[in-house]
Amino acid sequence: MKTWKRFTRTGQIIAFIIVLILCAAAPQAFAEDAVSSATVKITSLPGLQPDPDTKVLVMYFSTDDTVKAVAYTVADELNADIFEIVPEIPYMAADLEYYTNCRADREQKDASARPAIALWPESLDRYDSVIIGYPIWHGQAPKILYTLLEGIDVSGKTIVPFCTSASSSAGSSAKNLQALTDDTAAWLDVKRVDNGSTAEDIRAWAVSLGLSEGKTDMLMMINDAPVTVVWENNDSVAALRELAADSLTIQMSMYGGFEQVGPIGQRLPKADKQTTTSPGDIVLYSGNQLVVFYGSNSWAYTRLGKITDQTPEQLEALLGSGNVTITLTID
Ligand SMILES: Cc1cc2nc3c(=O)[nH]c(=O)nc-3n(C[C@H](O)[C@H](O)[C@H](O)COP(=O)(O)O)c2cc1C
Repeated sequence: MKTWKRFTRTGQIIAFIIVLILCAAAPQAFAEDAVSSATVKITSLPGLQPDPDTKVLVMYFSTDDTVKAVAYTVADELNADIFEIVPEIPYMAADLEYYTNCRADREQKDASARPAIALWPESLDRYDSVIIGYPIWHGQAPKILYTLLEGIDVSGKTIVPFCTSASSSAGSSAKNLQALTDDTAAWLDVKRVDNGSTAEDIRAWAVSLGLSEGKTDMLMMINDAPVTVVWENNDSVAALRELAADSLTIQMSMYGGFEQVGPIGQRLPKADKQTTTSPGDIVLYSGNQLVVFYGSNSWAYTRLGKITDQTPEQLEALLGSGNVTITLTID
């Protein structure tokens, strides 16, 4: 009996200490809650086909659902996750009446404006590629995109910007966003989704990015340096992949101060289109020549892929100071 009493007294003391510990811990638990409630777990949204292993995330900002519709179509096509950039203070209709000195007008004029984001993504670690959609506001991305890119870490990821607008081009909007991220983020060319685009057009663009299938199985070396390439999803690349299965070596020559060109040794299927290239682009020329750009040119080519892990300066250093050998192999 005595032992039991002593036991219960000890039990009471322990219980008391536990209550004390819990009380002391409570404010911290609340504080943690407050922080975690400002982040959100990214998942695919209802109606989209989720892929728990997806390495592609679509992030978008939209006040009138145009960008949202594109973002959903892309995410659906690629089985990607999707994240909406939601402002802490919502934009009401009057905030968006542009050319009236409305809130959006004022923010776009103010270089330091960084509208707060209500919910931040929990983590981007699992994603290799981030597709970022926004409307054009006065020729640029809305300032909330600046808030986003200054607040997340996209180093080492492939970034695919797209935008919609009433009529303006994407202009310098994506370049100005790229300037907010570090050099290891590989930005692909911005896509302005035309107002007349159909869902099929948008899906075809999404597939052409080559992100969903992670088609990095064909490895490319420039001399001894491996580079990361996002390959196109077309018949020419399929044929090139077959040649690379036995390892394909191409002796390239510098040409025009903007490219290296070399004979593949046989003809590949081609679907030439007038194209203005940018540094990192890999194209098929004349059906049987591989061209890799460190500058730009306009001609009829078939796109093969894009080097995504080198800055224009690094490409110039790799390709702009003498003929190189390119080797293609299959992983
Ligand atoms: C504040 C503001 C500024 C805009 N500026 C431009 C512009 O400079 N050029 C243009 O073509 N469209 C402009 N627009 C129109 C939007 O870019 C276009 O309607 C876009 O598709 C909207 O996307 P959303 O529906 O996803 O919000 C502007 C819209 C707003 C609200």
